[in-house]
Amino acid sequence: MRNVSIALLGCGNVGRGFVELAGRERQRIRDRYGVDLEIGRILVRDLTKIRPGVDRRLLTTRALEVIDSDCDVVVELVGGVHTAGAFVRRALANGQDVVTANKALLAAHGPELFEAATQRGLSIGFEASVCGGIPVVRALHRGLAGDSIESIRGIVNGTCNFVLSRMEEGLDFEGAVHAAQERGFAEADPSMDIDGHDSAQKIRILASLAFDAPVTHESVIGIRSVTREQIERAHAGGCVIRLVAEAERLPGGVTVRVRPREIDAADIFGSVRDEYNVVAIRGRATGEVVLTGKGAGALPTAAAVLSDVIEIAQLRSARPAEVGRVGVRTSSSAGAPRLVAR
Ligand code: HSE
Repeated sequence: MRNVSIALLGCGNVGRGFVELAGRERQRIRDRYGVDLEIGRILVRDLTKIRPGVDRRLLTTRALEVIDSDCDVVVELVGGVHTAGAFVRRALANGQDVVTANKALLAAHGPELFEAATQRGLSIGFEASVCGGIPVVRALHRGLAGDSIESIRGIVNGTCNFVLSRMEEGLDFEGAVHAAQERGFAEADPSMDIDGHDSAQKIRILASLAFDAPVTHESVIGIRSVTREQIERAHAGGCVIRLVAEAERLPGGVTVRVRPREIDAADIFGSVRDEYNVVAIRGRATGEVVLTGKGAGALPTAAAVLSDVIEIAQLRSARPAEVGRVGVRTSSSAGAPRLVAR
């Protein structure tokens, strides 16, 4: 049995979900994967906030006390780019593996962080950064490794899908956004969801896994201009409006598009409601593979975080002791960055 200690940065919705799930699944993970996962320290902003099920003795507001503790894996759930990036760099410099749900950080600094991890033979897990509980990062990076991907199309933002679903039932735009925030689906700044930027970040991450080519064209339109009248008109024609993100490999580069589209209600994309997401991946040999499930919410996202932690814990068990020191490369880290999603 290998003991793996976890430093948790951030204890908001997903962080609390992670604490709950890691506790609930601990024995099964021990039995099945031979690793004992223990949360050693938790970074929070406010010590006085009520967090049912979270051991108060683990909490601190001092980031370095958590990152520089004697932990094996740092789980970054603080969000944002600047501070989160500094935390991840520090963890990698300490020789700790990292798991993050932070797509904004990966979109801004992914190549640099993966390079730093590769230099040290460490891993960065980011399954939770795209589509919550749907294992789409693993599916692309490992499951479809034998095929050439031609295109990816998805409904990848739970908030927008939830808002459009509620508007179909008569709620106005503001009321629907408020409901999504209350359910914990929306980003801290919900305009990231509504204006399509969250979808763009996610489809870019998927595109970088699928295609060895840069994004050369990108257009992003969110759902702010979608009216109840448009939704009702679509409904009368047997259709729904959904925010669709697409990435396609074309000669010269990858084209990324995010925009609201009218879709037949009977289509698999049209039948995806509320915080559910769907991703259709087209492979040259495989044809279309479709994955659907909860794309936002505390427990589905926490399950994706936990799956990365388990995989890293197993990798750590198999790894020589010197890995993690600056400059040490394992043979398997010599090519692509060590993503857990393999
Ligand atoms: N705000 C995101 C969404 C959370 O609504 O999909 C999950 O990435």
